[in-house]
Amino acid sequence: MFQNLPFWPESASSAAGNVDALYIFLVVLSAFMSIAIFITIIVFAIHFRRYKHPEAEPVEGSTILEITWSVIPLGIFLFIFAWGAMIYFQERTPPRGAAEVYVVAKQWMWKLQHPEGPREINELHVPMGRDVKLIMTSQDAIHSFYVPAFRIKQDVLPGRYTTIWFRATKPGTYHLFCAEYCGTSHSGMIGDIVVMEPAQYQAWVQSGGAFLSLAANGQAIFQQLGCPACHKAETQGRGPTLIGVYNRPVQLEDGRIVTADENYIRESILAPNAKIVSGFKPIMPVFQGLVNEEELNALVAYVKSLNQPSPGAAALPTLAPPGTEVPGSKD
Ligand code: CUA
Repeated sequence: MFQNLPFWPESASSAAGNVDALYIFLVVLSAFMSIAIFITIIVFAIHFRRYKHPEAEPVEGSTILEITWSVIPLGIFLFIFAWGAMIYFQERTPPRGAAEVYVVAKQWMWKLQHPEGPREINELHVPMGRDVKLIMTSQDAIHSFYVPAFRIKQDVLPGRYTTIWFRATKPGTYHLFCAEYCGTSHSGMIGDIVVMEPAQYQAWVQSGGAFLSLAANGQAIFQQLGCPACHKAETQGRGPTLIGVYNRPVQLEDGRIVTADENYIRESILAPNAKIVSGFKPIMPVFQGLVNEEELNALVAYVKSLNQPSPGAAALPTLAPPGTEVPGSKD
């Protein structure tokens, strides 16, 4: 709606309209207040200079006036807060069934991996109209994934996952920037988001040839590292079974109950002793330094893929049986 204004960034995502509306509201409100204050100052300056200043009159407090000028701004600020919070939660809560793209940032490039297998550098192809969830981490410094046309920006941190999602609404090529100063070539850490018609996108995926999916890749690494020796699928091994663990509550040895989200799985691989599952011993070796970020992403994708119910799979006593809904689970 504001596309014709100069300097207005293109809007190409489902979130863009909401962000723009709030932004316009803030600008109009600020402009209105600034103009009102300036006019008042000028009018008073002229008035009291021209008509001499009257004898100074002591001004007594006015409760009604004070309440008015406190309550009205408070109401406006709370309104802005509620509006902003709504948009924030929309942008932070990926819809169910969103396609998951893993992002690894490093000095100074973006590495992106599709669930179907294709990898890209500084370029991300996505179909129009599909929800895309980005699961992001950094190999070194703090970076920030910023796509102005989608109105999304999210810091990318080393040592943990952060997520953001978008739904592209218009085919085209849009700028991807790094929005956090990350060293000498920060300004060169840019890329393109290419939004394609769904059919075109399918053709693009197939043109890349046959890929091992990210989860299948993760399964191969899982075998190589000897994980199945303890994490057995059908029976309870020395480690907990991983079937159906993703996004479910896990009872820990110290009594806490945590949700097995991406960050939990990640931590359980790199630093297994940080959270010991109830009933198990801290015997798992530490994999920090033995797997790189991309291998880690593949392992996480593999563990997540084990959520499909498989017949005869044993579940941890504290876990809901595979396939059941857990209240509050995000995915
Ligand atoms: Cu990466 Cu700035």
